[in-house]
Amino acid sequence: MRIVLLGAPGAGKGSQAKKISEKYNLPHISTGDIFRSLLHQDSELGRVFAEYSKKGLLVPDDLVIKIVEDRLNADDCKNGFIMDGFPRTIPQAEAFEKDVHIDVALNFDVDKSILMDRLTGRWTCSKCGAPYHVSTMNGITKCTICGGDLVQRDDDKAETVEKRLAVYETQTKPLIDFYKKVGVLQNLDANKPIEEVFEKIVQILDNL
Ligand code: AP5
Repeated sequence: MRIVLLGAPGAGKGSQAKKISEKYNLPHISTGDIFRSLLHQDSELGRVFAEYSKKGLLVPDDLVIKIVEDRLNADDCKNGFIMDGFPRTIPQAEAFEKDVHIDVALNFDVDKSILMDRLTGRWTCSKCGAPYHVSTMNGITKCTICGGDLVQRDDDKAETVEKRLAVYETQTKPLIDFYKKVGVLQNLDANKPIEEVFEKIVQILDNL
């Protein structure tokens, strides 16, 4: 199965991608995670990413398309994948559509106030990536799973989140119509709790 996850920042794409990956044994490809992993290396691409993401902006299309092309050449993508955070612009979607047939694009629909709360309240384990929300952390600073430090992503500060949501509206939201025209769009009410959203996704995927 070749799955694209569409939705605003904070819509829950990463959380659901992890669950889909475990249930259907598909690789989870997150362009955001690929870029963040470069921050730990001394690389030009890592520096480019840091510059764009701290402003809440998208990395230029040609860089992202190249990274995805390379990732899709890996053996684990032969039987499908879950694409989380790509494509994010019409040129990215057009380039992707030329090479790859998508089975389904799942569009995560979430109210803006909920997105703001999820993102500005999100803290993440710096070691294992487990997500936390400030409202339920009760002052803890270490991950309860692996003991890693809990950190806030640079781009989860309130002003940057506003910018990311604005960029979503202008550059990424048009992909809903793009995938509707391709005939693979499925809409999800992703305001609901994680398990309920996942149940709906399983229904959709099992019917493909
Ligand atoms: P990226 O890492 O892709 O960030 P994003 O799309 O902004 O997505 P997030 O990770 O913030 O949200 P998500 O939808 O995955 O939600 P999550 O499951 O984490 O991109 C970061 C940056 O990289 C970009 O700004 C850009 O600079 C660059 N980039 C990446 N891809 C690019 C591309 N293709 N082109 C150009 N630039 C690119 O959930 C969020 C929180 O909510 C979590 O705490 C979670 O626990 C919680 N949560 C999730 N679902 C629920 C639920 N149903 N109920 C309650 N809480 C929930």
